[in-house]
Amino acid sequence: MASGSIHRCDLHLIMVVTVTVLRTCAPCPSVCNCTGTFYGNAYCNHKNLDRVPAGISTNTRFLRLEYNRLTRLPAGAFSGLSQLLRLTLYNNLITEIEDGTFSGLVALKKLHLGSNNINLLTNNTFQGVPNLEELSLSNNRLLSLGNGVFNQIPNLLELDVSHNGIREFPTEVSKYLSNVQVLDLSSNPAQLLLIQNTVGIFKQIVALQYLKLNKLSEVSNTAGEIRIPESTFDGLPNLTNLELNGNRLSKIPSAIKSLKNLKYISLHMNSIQSVGADDFHQPSLLEILLLDKNKLVEIPASALAQLPHLTKLYLDFNPISTIPARAFWHNPRLTNLSLAYTNLTTIQEDAFSGLDQLGSLNLQGNNLTTIKGGVMTHVNPKVS
Ligand SMILES: *[C@@H]1O[C@H](CO)[C@@H](O)[C@H](O)[C@H]1NC(C)=O
Ligand SMILES: *[C@@H]1O[C@H](CO)[C@@H](O)[C@H](O)[C@H]1NC(C)=O
Ligand SMILES: *[C@@H]1O[C@H](CO)[C@@H](O)[C@H](O)[C@H]1NC(C)=O
Ligand SMILES: *[C@@H]1O[C@H](CO)[C@@H](O)[C@H](O)[C@H]1NC(C)=O
Ligand SMILES: *[C@@H]1O[C@H](CO)[C@@H](O)[C@H](O)[C@H]1NC(C)=O
Ligand SMILES: *[C@@H]1O[C@H](CO)[C@@H](O)[C@H](O)[C@H]1NC(C)=O
Repeated sequence: MASGSIHRCDLHLIMVVTVTVLRTCAPCPSVCNCTGTFYGNAYCNHKNLDRVPAGISTNTRFLRLEYNRLTRLPAGAFSGLSQLLRLTLYNNLITEIEDGTFSGLVALKKLHLGSNNINLLTNNTFQGVPNLEELSLSNNRLLSLGNGVFNQIPNLLELDVSHNGIREFPTEVSKYLSNVQVLDLSSNPAQLLLIQNTVGIFKQIVALQYLKLNKLSEVSNTAGEIRIPESTFDGLPNLTNLELNGNRLSKIPSAIKSLKNLKYISLHMNSIQSVGADDFHQPSLLEILLLDKNKLVEIPASALAQLPHLTKLYLDFNPISTIPARAFWHNPRLTNLSLAYTNLTTIQEDAFSGLDQLGSLNLQGNNLTTIKGGVMTHVNPKVS
């Protein structure tokens, strides 16, 4: 027993020595708390800081500075942090980013500048961060994007500039975004789509897979339907996912017909009254279709007949009162069908015929009085 406690004591001593050595090698600003081997993580968030604290370890890989009172980022603010992979600066009061602020962050992959007051980016704002892959500038005060703002970050994969006032998205900007796979332009003026009428504005973002254009605003407060020019989605061979929620669309924009590989489209919260048989590119690879909260008065059966790969269909909150026989006959892969709050009163016997794969059927919020005998025998027994 006695020898056992000596061992524990030895171990304790070794640990004290090791921790002391680590402390010496890796400083941590007193206002922050740092964790991880050689202080890989520095947490300086929620500290009321009005400047970037001095003395951050050059070993830091993840630096958190969100929820402070930073207003200005001076050139060289992060110099020496050559190991840094992630930097979070959201929810500050940043208005000014000096050219060269991020210089020296040669390893940086993710930069989060959302929820600040940034109104200007220059050709050199992102100088010295050549490996940046994810950039968020969401919820700032940007009114335009100059041609060369992203010219120093050629490896960018994800860009979020949602919730700004961007009225111009010049094709010249796209030239520097050729590796971007995910782009979020939601909650900006719809005007940004109108700049180019003949060439697709996103055409040079050739790697684009996921595009979000939700809740675009009209400049004239008419609250009218968002106009999506015919060429908008031209030249995007890899685009599989598109969001057009909350744009007051009365029909599916014909521009989407150029998207050959579209697999997911979300059109929730629009005013779509009908869906036509040729509204999607044919042949269609569409798997997921969200049309909830629109003004459909019937199941778009002829359009569904052109969507053989559909697995998930959401039609909730549309004033659809009946389901015609075999409405989903051409969609044998459907696993999820949602028809909640659609004003259905009766379901005919053949309504769900052919849905052998259905795993989830949502009919809540309807005033169902009649479900014809046998209707559920056509669907997967898992349906409750
Ligand atoms: C350090 O900060 C992190 C993140 O805010 C927190 O989870 C952790 O509890 C903090 N540790 C100390 C010792 O304050
Ligand atoms: C910024 O870059 C763009 C495109 O590379 C160029 O056309 C423009 O003149 C540059 N602006 C300044 C101020 O250097
Ligand atoms: C498009 O996707 C394919 C398959 O994932 C990929 O090989 C190709 O590089 C992508 N094209 C571009 C321009 O990124
Ligand atoms: C629901 O259906 C009834 C008839 O079945 C119709 O009178 C009513 O207007 C419909 N409600 C809506 C919101 O469409
Ligand atoms: C789709 O249905 C499956 C059951 O097959 C369920 O587990 C899943 O939550 C559903 N997904 C959605 C998004 O409703
Ligand atoms: C359902 O029917 C009841 C009784 O007829 C009626 O009071 C109620 O408003 C109806 N609800 C809907 C959502 O139509």
